Amino acid sequence: MTARIISIDREPEAALAAAVDALGQGAAIAIPTETVYGLAADATRADAINRIYETKGRPRFNPLICHMADLAMARMHARFDPVSERLAEAFWPGPLTLILPLLPESPIHDLASAGLDTVGIRVPQGFAGQLIRAFGRPLAAPSANTSGAISPTSAEHVAEDLGPKIPLILDGGASGVGVESTIVKVEADGRLRLLRPGGIAAAEIERVAGHPLERLEKAGAAIEAPGMLASHYAPDAGMRLNAAFPLEGEAYLAFGPGKVEGLEKARFTFNLSPEGDCAEAASHLFAAMKRADRSGARVIAVAPIPAQGLGEAINDRLERAAAPKPQET
Ligand code: TXA
Ligand code: MG
Repeated sequence: MTARIISIDREPEAALAAAVDALGQGAAIAIPTETVYGLAADATRADAINRIYETKGRPRFNPLICHMADLAMARMHARFDPVSERLAEAFWPGPLTLILPLLPESPIHDLASAGLDTVGIRVPQGFAGQLIRAFGRPLAAPSANTSGAISPTSAEHVAEDLGPKIPLILDGGASGVGVESTIVKVEADGRLRLLRPGGIAAAEIERVAGHPLERLEKAGAAIEAPGMLASHYAPDAGMRLNAAFPLEGEAYLAFGPGKVEGLEKARFTFNLSPEGDCAEAASHLFAAMKRADRSGARVIAVAPIPAQGLGEAINDRLERAAAPKPQET
């Protein structure tokens, strides 16, 4: 199998028809979202969800986000309290995933929720939303990459990694946000817990919610969001974070307008945002990590990135990329 690639800009109708057809057959296909490309399949079908896990080599205890066309569709699958309603209305469609109680009558398959009594739900922007509306059922979709690898932000990234394993890739160009959605768990007592920083800054969510998000201890995160911890987004090269300048032969990812000493020693350099804008840096992050990795450098050194705004998600992804890989621990 080699994936057929259809551009949604050039052939939107053909793309929609091919995607609905493939999903109806239980296939897992790659679709663009505003965060990263997703590997999508019918969230109500065991065979379809199994294809996602098999294609990615993903452990089955790690639940999948279920993507909905809109809030009305989401209400058919999960219970919303006033706080989750408010967050959904403020940020959907957009890069926010809410972990909510799964309704017993929801046809979302146990394999998608990994048997939990909660479900991760988000309403994506753009073509993905249109596709879900046309298909009529929620789509389970993790990022469209081999488990543990860097998430794809272009159709080319997906094709290189999963092209031989899937029938269809919809090409929507570069993902605008560039890091995955922010995941928030709404507890029964109204507390909000940040399970994964992402495409919406925590401060924006706190502003709408009217109270602070609880951060997880890194050690507790493994239990709360299985698959969230340890090595993830791992390039082949080692990572060196908060590096003010590159050492001989390293790849160097710069940030901001400052002059970097010894840049000529680097084998590869790229500035994630010459203006020092975290949203711009997020949109370039994964593609830059892939290019740096391909440069053949043994180490990718990365400039300090501020922790504010989308910087929290960037630092989170960089720390995971720097964590020891499973076979090394
Ligand atoms: O932006 C995104 O969120 C992308 C695009 C494709 O939508 N998707 C994505 O999915 O990043 P994935 O599978 O790579 O990450 C989903 C995370 C996993 O770490 C999983 O453990 C967590 O969400 N998750 C899903 N359902 C959960 C639940 N019921 N409780 C706790 N964590 C959950
Ligand atoms: Mg992922």
